[in-house]
Parts: sequence; structure tokens; C-alpha cells
Amino acid sequence: MSKFRIAPSILSANFAKLGEEVDNVLAAGADIVHFDVMDNHYVPNLTIGPLVCEALRKHGVTAPIDVHLMVKPVDRIIPDFAKAGATYITFHPEASEHIDRTIGLIRDSGCKPGLVFNPATPLDVLEYTLDKLDMVLLMSVNPGFGGQKFIPYVLDKARRVRQMISARGLDVSLEIDGGVGPANILEVAKAGVDTFVAGSAVFGAAKDSDPHRYDSIIAAL
Ligand code: DX5
Ligand code: ZN
Repeated sequence: MSKFRIAPSILSANFAKLGEEVDNVLAAGADIVHFDVMDNHYVPNLTIGPLVCEALRKHGVTAPIDVHLMVKPVDRIIPDFAKAGATYITFHPEASEHIDRTIGLIRDSGCKPGLVFNPATPLDVLEYTLDKLDMVLLMSVNPGFGGQKFIPYVLDKARRVRQMISARGLDVSLEIDGGVGPANILEVAKAGVDTFVAGSAVFGAAKDSDPHRYDSIIAAL
């Protein structure tokens, strides 16, 4: 099995038939469902919450669901997502008053915690938190919208995080989110990333035609 994982972001899916869209990308080889939660407060957009996560589980989705919280405050929504079937819950350090507590809440609720760094957010807090995390998520766009352009300086951050993970001998996933597609995924992988979020690259083309369209794009990633 490949150590690389593809995580389609359902932000770019057709929400009118979300269950089918998720089934199709998983059947085409995707590994994880990336689930973007936006609150029109921490980020300038509004998306989906625990009800939709629960609906995907009830629909029969068994793949890991990677809940990317772009909300402030963070803590009170964590138990709801845990109950709704989230696998990973990641949050932005700027959105939590007590980062260590939030990580503990996620872990204690039975989910895998991750920290998300915006492009210009320094990595300092990893010094104290890396060994408590299952995932580090690097934003390669400013959060809020799909379809934005990849910010190249994040590659250097990826190399630094990979180095920190290796130096400490930890088993922490390094995920990247934003502007990833067939044109740059190899370069991103070479920087040490193992989990690739892709929204518009996966769901963007020919939304309502053939479900098998996902096979070739996921194979190309
Ligand atoms: C942006 C979201 C992303 C977004 C990525 O704030 O966190 O997950 O869906 O979309 P693409 O792959 O189109 O950049
Ligand atoms: Zn995301």
C-alpha cells in the first residue's frame, strides 16, 4: 500500500448529491474525505457542520473523515463532530485560546488531533505539541475558498515539518491543503508531504457527467 493518501475536499463537490460524489471518489481510489468547516467568522465563508458528517456515515461512508475546522471558538463543536463520526479533527492555533486543551479534547473524544498552519503562520507551537498530534496540516492557500493558487513558499515549511517529524521519530501525517493538482503534486510529495487535499482538481471538471471521470484524475495525483 502506498504511503501517500489522496483526500478530496468535498467543498468542491456537488452538495445536492454529496453521498454519491463521496462514493465515487472513494471508488476511484481516494483514501480520506476532507471535510471543510467554515463559520463566516474565522474565515469569510460558511459551509457544513456535524449533521452532514453524520449523514455521510449513515450513507455508509467508512473511509476516514478528515474534519478541517475553520471556526472560532473551536472547543464546543468538537464533541459534536466526534459523535458525528469524524476521524481526524484539525484546527488552527489562532482559533483556540488553549491549544494544549483543544488537542486533549479531540483525543479524549476519540478522534485524531491535528494542527493547521496558515501560509504565514509560524510553526513555533509544534515544539510543544508535535508529539501529541496525529497530523500537521499546512495550508498552501489562505483558508476560506476552493480553487485558489498554490503558494510556493509553503514547500519550505513542509520540508521543515518533515524534518521535525523525522528528527523526533514520530508517526505524524503531513498534509497539505490548497491549490494541489497533477501539475504540482510531485514537487509537494518531494517536500515530505504524505497526504494531499485536492478540491477543485478532483471535483472541478464536468461535475454532472460520468462518475468514472474521477478515476483518471485520482490516478494522475
Ligand atoms: C480552503 C479549504 C480547502 C479547499 C481546497 O480553505 O481548506 O480544503 O477545499 O480546495 P482546492 O484544492 O480547490 O484548492
Ligand atoms: Zn481544508
